Amino acid sequence: MSCRLYEGKEQASSYWKYRIAPSDHLIQQVLNFLEKQMDQPFELAVDVGCGSGQGTLLLAKYFASVVGTDVSPAQLEMATQHTQEPNITYRRCVAEDLPFADGSADLVTAMSAFHWFDRPRFLQEAHRILKPRGCLALLNYTMDMRLSSPDRCSDSLNRVCNQFYAALHPYRSAKLGPSSIEFYREAHGSIPYPDKEWHECVWVERPMPLSSYMGLVESFSSYQALLKEDPQKATALSQDVCQRLMSIMRVTSVETEVVVAVKYFYLLACKPQEA
Ligand SMILES: C[S@@+](CC[C@H](N)C(=O)[O-])C[C@H]1O[C@@H](n2cnc3c(N)ncnc32)[C@H](O)[C@@H]1O
Repeated sequence: MSCRLYEGKEQASSYWKYRIAPSDHLIQQVLNFLEKQMDQPFELAVDVGCGSGQGTLLLAKYFASVVGTDVSPAQLEMATQHTQEPNITYRRCVAEDLPFADGSADLVTAMSAFHWFDRPRFLQEAHRILKPRGCLALLNYTMDMRLSSPDRCSDSLNRVCNQFYAALHPYRSAKLGPSSIEFYREAHGSIPYPDKEWHECVWVERPMPLSSYMGLVESFSSYQALLKEDPQKATALSQDVCQRLMSIMRVTSVETEVVVAVKYFYLLACKPQEA
């Protein structure tokens, strides 16, 4: 079953504005793995569940062609609006039924998306479209993002952030269970490819205004679920957190810069020559 949580236009727009895409360094790790398995030039990368396309864009320089796929027209519209690269296109389809020929993709990625898919069906589909020695890369980050601000006690800021995440926890989709990392660990265990890697902790840091940090957390499915159920409660929670963070930083502007660090984890797997 597809995830319908990201389909609204507003959601797609806040996604584009606030989400923290993988760093170039992280994408380079994926490419290093692929380069060990296959000769260049690389023809096709497919970024499944591409959302508004921030991660898809990072692949453009390495492949003759990159196709971002997503089930949501609003996300794809946002992605198309922000893409100038002539070798990137977008297609609407579900992750479990990809419109690509058998053995056609050098790389299949899913960034912050695999946990929403019907995972066994997607893994079968990725296996089908990958070339022999082609690679699968599944990336995601944990909810425990860290906030810091010059000269301010990060511990105090993060205590408030952790309370924010704890308040949102009951609104997590039941489909995700307590923590999505387990789905990735499980996939790493179950993928029957001998060449595979698991990386549990790569921090990606981004400076941004505090308002964008708030926008980032508000773009999460758990906040969106709370907003839908009780808009007043959601807004009050967010305002309270924002006020407390500003008070710790001793600032009055929500545009004050903070640094947000997210902890990425990822798995890489290479389809064997004879599979
Ligand atoms: C959390 S967003 C991640 C977007 C983007 N890859 C990123 O890193 O920011 C998850 C995306 O997966 C899409 N999605 C969820 N389930 C899907 C499915 N079964 N097939 C295709 N897309 C799906 C959603 O529409 C959404 O755009």
